[in-house]
Amino acid sequence: MSAEIARALNTLARAATFAPSGDNTQPWRFEIDACAGRITLRLDESRDRSPMNGGNRMSRIACGAALENMHRTARRHGWRVFEVPASEPHAWTLELSRVALTHADDAALEDRTTNRRMYDGRAISGTTLAALRNATAGDHEEVRTVWLDSKDSLKGFAKLEGAAFERMYALKEIRKAIADNIRFDAPPNARVEYGMPSGALGLNGVQLAASRLIAGLPDWLLRTSGMLKAISAHAKQQIHSSSALCVVLAKDYEDATDVCVGKALQRAWLALTEEGLSAQPMMAFAVVENMLVSGDEALLRKLGVESVEAILDRWTGLLPQAASLRPAFVLRVGYAPAPLARSGRQPAPALTSHAVRETVWSNAP
Ligand SMILES: Cc1cc2nc3c(=O)[nH]c(=O)nc-3n(C[C@H](O)[C@H](O)[C@H](O)COP(=O)(O)O)c2cc1C
Repeated sequence: MSAEIARALNTLARAATFAPSGDNTQPWRFEIDACAGRITLRLDESRDRSPMNGGNRMSRIACGAALENMHRTARRHGWRVFEVPASEPHAWTLELSRVALTHADDAALEDRTTNRRMYDGRAISGTTLAALRNATAGDHEEVRTVWLDSKDSLKGFAKLEGAAFERMYALKEIRKAIADNIRFDAPPNARVEYGMPSGALGLNGVQLAASRLIAGLPDWLLRTSGMLKAISAHAKQQIHSSSALCVVLAKDYEDATDVCVGKALQRAWLALTEEGLSAQPMMAFAVVENMLVSGDEALLRKLGVESVEAILDRWTGLLPQAASLRPAFVLRVGYAPAPLARSGRQPAPALTSHAVRETVWSNAP
């Protein structure tokens, strides 16, 4: 196999690592078989054992986003690539059959980032919305991407997501899992290779100190002190400051559908980046729903099945399509200054790094 194929496979692996993942857990590993011209992306369950990731749903979505980055990179270079039918669950193999020594700039891959600051609420022009809709049209049949830019939609979603935030943060297990992935040990703007730098949270000093403190507080204190309300008020304010929502709707809870959700959200997020728009996933509703569908029984009892169902029922009033399709991923979208810090990535490919620990070079040139 040619040196070009090996280089191209490395380029694909690197592109994949720029994908978003829940709390920057990067739940993937790569296996590169330069001889066969193949790269396999495997979901690594050990990377995110948090209760937010029950059944590995969030990790599968992240893997879908990483796959989208690889397809996009191959397309942009004019390389021919196809997905080889899976030989095992939670592994996806791409095979390159033709590469040319081309150079294709794709700034959006690296520029895309989660911006948790308040946005300025400015309306998005019709032309920009049309470009976004165009970039996300023709999704896989398992998913559909919709864009909502009315104030009523933002208001309705803020209520729904705010309520989900309150339920989620009421559980110490969740607060602790979130805090564990915030890198309080590093300078706020450090490009940490795992987890999130505290500067990326878009919080002021007091809020940051509180977010560290609440992980260890008993649930009753959270409920009675008004802290839960404050946390949910912040999330609601973030949504109110936005210009629109991008919602990825899915037809079911199948594993393969989660991967399609990841591909679709990444297409949307890269299109947003190219249009100069900021975005942040708002996934408390999806976390509590996932706890209902695939979560731990004891934790679900603490969370309260009926109250979660009541929160999720609000979707149908907000989005008629939600009667038949399931909202699976939401990005709030708008204009904002750049985030004060960004998460880094484990380097790829490098045989010593975790992300490519199992990389296999067979007959590497
Ligand atoms: C499945 C999934 C769920 C996410 N949920 C949230 C969320 O609820 N809130 C949030 O601020 N960011 C969320 N994110 C964004 C990640 O925290 C972010 O992608 C990661 O920290 C890496 O940072 P980057 O996007 O700036 O590269 C989510 C990302 C994925 C893929």
